[in-house]
This record gives sequence, structure tokens and C-alpha cells, in this order.
Amino acid sequence: MTTSTTIDNRWSSEFKYVLAAAGAAVGLGNLWKFPYIMGENGGGAFVLVYLFCILLIGIPVMMAEVMIGKRARTSPANASATVAKESGGSSIWSLLGASGVIAGSLILSFYIVIAGWAAAYIFFGISGDFLATAGSEIAHKDEIGALFTGLITDTTQLIIWSSITIIAAMLVLIRGVNAGLEKAVTYLMPLLFVLLTIIMVYAAATGNFGEAAQFMFSPDFSKLSFDGVLTALGHAFFTLSLSSGIMMVYGAYMPEGTSIAKTSIYIAVMDTAVALIAGMAIFPIVFANGMEPSAGPGLLFVSLPIAFGQMPLGTLFGTLFFIMVTFAAFTSVIALLESPVAYLNERLGLSRAKATIVAGCTIWALSLLTVFSLSGAPWAQDVVMGLNFFDALDKLTANIMLPLAGLFTAVLVGWVVKENITREEFGLSEFAYKAVMFCLRYLSPVAIAIVFLQAVGFISL
Ligand code: PFF
Ligand code: NA
Repeated sequence: MTTSTTIDNRWSSEFKYVLAAAGAAVGLGNLWKFPYIMGENGGGAFVLVYLFCILLIGIPVMMAEVMIGKRARTSPANASATVAKESGGSSIWSLLGASGVIAGSLILSFYIVIAGWAAAYIFFGISGDFLATAGSEIAHKDEIGALFTGLITDTTQLIIWSSITIIAAMLVLIRGVNAGLEKAVTYLMPLLFVLLTIIMVYAAATGNFGEAAQFMFSPDFSKLSFDGVLTALGHAFFTLSLSSGIMMVYGAYMPEGTSIAKTSIYIAVMDTAVALIAGMAIFPIVFANGMEPSAGPGLLFVSLPIAFGQMPLGTLFGTLFFIMVTFAAFTSVIALLESPVAYLNERLGLSRAKATIVAGCTIWALSLLTVFSLSGAPWAQDVVMGLNFFDALDKLTANIMLPLAGLFTAVLVGWVVKENITREEFGLSEFAYKAVMFCLRYLSPVAIAIVFLQAVGFISL
């Protein structure tokens, strides 16, 4: 059964919507995940595939998701069903929105743990932990390695930091869309851009760009596996915050008259720029210090502090850097929490405060799976296909749930929704409309299906 309540919350301007959606998009995906998966997948070719995924699949699917939310003005599960039914489709489409709420909640359960690492690193920075105490460079590397391992295997510290993160997000969301979410991004996003600019200038002044640019921008396709292609595709969804209910919710709060196409392009361009800048800040340092680009999830938290510890003013800039990472993560955390909150609020009729508490506590409990995966608890290891809970949740969401939901979003808006509705909502020129619809009807579903079926082994190319 669906209720007929609609959402009356609105962002106070188109600009505030862009800030909030860019806040949701720009996060650990750009600063932490993109550099390390690029490193693990050989660099240039991965980046190229990723950019195509953003342009041809990510942006059209974002437009489709936002349109669903804006058209229906309800929370995700109701929204996908409402839009389908308006065009004579089935109410089974509510599953699409519901899967987003589930995927978003699962993502948030490990996201707050990594956001907690970043917060802890602010304090490491302030206390001078990035500086070498021993004489040799090797000893310094070992010290920073031990700092990271010490943190991620310390159950208490992990729990404290991730709890602080989710509690802070709950305090913001309880205040509502305008006084909470919108106000937070209004302060945090400009600060984020200031910090990013400072770090960029600093990296340009101290780093060595040559090898990094070569690594990131000269594609060598022999280094890219099919699994790497799926990782690039999944990451395009993750980084743009697609398939997680969020863009539907944020679209539902869009003021009338906002252009879906224009704002989606702004958001995607900002997100992509931050990801590329993060790579250009991290890899020069990695190569200059003879470190491995394929170091994995520790890349940001080990390689950079080693470099900061050896660079002039490294403590100051290292601390600023992790403040930036924490802010970027936090604006994504509040977005991720908003999707289940809006859902519980509307679907189960819980007050906003109750919905926030229920969603926050559930996600906090789920985050323990990641905490114990990291700290090495035996029951949290080897849950499925040799992966611990953390890795399994990451793969399940980014490589399976997000691309599949993206496929169905493209099908819903490309094939089910009536043409007069998509024309009206998108408000594009004839050529642009045709191009977007081609991506939604044919390119995205076919590309996602092929990459997906190949990755799970149903077809081999
Ligand atoms: N887009 C965020 C990032 O790149 O860090 C992560 C994210 C936020 C994923 C919101 C999904 C989501 F719904
Ligand atoms: Na992102």
C-alpha cells in the first residue's frame, strides 16, 4: 500500500540544491576510493573508462533519478511507483526506490567508519604524529604504517569515531531539510573548496607531477581487466551518489523551475574535478617517495601522511588535508542518512526525530560489521567468497546493487514513463533530449548488462 502524502520540504534556491547535491556527491569516493581503485587498476585506462561512464551513464541516470523524485515529490519507494503508475506502469517499481534506501543504508554503515578514520587523522595531525621521530626514512614509513594499522585494528577507537560521526549527522538531520541539511552544506561546501584549493597549490609547489600525470592520463588497456571495468562503472554510480535513493529525495526537495539537466551537469563536473584533483595531489607524492600506487584502501591514510611528515609545513597542511576529507565525508554522510530518514518519515509516518533515531541507530549497529572486519574478529572474516563484511558490503553495493538499480532507473525513465512527461521535466532542446534518451533507453541498460553479466561470469568476451 502506498500513502498519498507528498513532501513539502524545498531547498530554498537552485543554488542551495546544487550545494547539497554536490555535498552528497563529493566525499570519500573522490578523495579516498577513487585514487586507490585507480591505483589498483593500473591508472590511465581505468580513468578513461570511468570518465565515459560518468558522461554517458552517470549524468543521464542522475537526471532520471532526480526527475523521478521531483515529479512524484515523495520519498524513494513511493516516488518510483508513483512515476511508473502515472504512465500506466506497475507499482512493483516501488522496489527500485526501496533498493536505493537499502543500498544507501548499507553504504552508510561502512562509510561512517572510514569517515571516522579521517576524523581521527585530524588529531594525529595536530599532535604531530606525521613527523618522523626516528632518523631514517624507512623508520618513518614504518611509524606511519603502524599509526594506520594501530587505528584500524583498535575496536574502541573505531567505534568512538564512527559513533561521533553518525551522532553528528543525526543532530543535523533532526533539524530538518532547511535548518539542518541546507545550513550544514552552506557552511561546509565553501570551506571544502577553500581547503581543496590550498592543498592543490601546496601539492603543485612541493610534488612532482610528471609521473603522476603519465600514470593517470596515458591509457594502457593491457592493464585493465574486465573486473576493472565493472569497478569503474560501479564507482561512477557511487561517486555521483546514484541508486541510493538520495538523488530522488533531493530531487523531491527541488524548487519549481530548477533545470534538471543543467544542475546534474554542474554536480557531475564538480565531482569529477575533485576526483581528478585528488589523484593529482596524491600520486605525485606516491611516486616521489617510491611508494606503490596499488597500496589499496590505506593509500590516502599511509602514503600522504608519510609525505606530509617530510614536507615543509607538513603538519599544518596534513591537518588541513584531513579536515577537508572529514568535511567532504560528512556532507555525504548526512545525505546518505537523509534517504532512510525521509523513507521512514513518510512511509511509516514516524516523526522526523524518531525516523532519524531509528535510522541512525540501525546504521550504527550495522557499522559494527565493518569495525570487526577491520579489527580482525574471526566471525567477521571470510563471510562470502573470502571477503570480510566490509569488503563484501563494498562490493555488494558498488558492484552489484548500484549498477543494477541504475539499469532499472534507465529503463523506467527511458521506456515506461511517457514521452510527454520526460520532455516536460527535462525541458531540453530536441537534440539534447534525443541524446539523453538514447543513453537511457539503449546505451546505459546494454552497457550495464554486458559489464555485469561478464563480471559474474555469464558471458565471456
Ligand atoms: N558520493 C559519495 C562519495 O563519492 O563519497 C558517496 C555516496 C554518497 C554514495 C551518497 C552513495 C550515496 F548515496
Ligand atoms: Na563522489
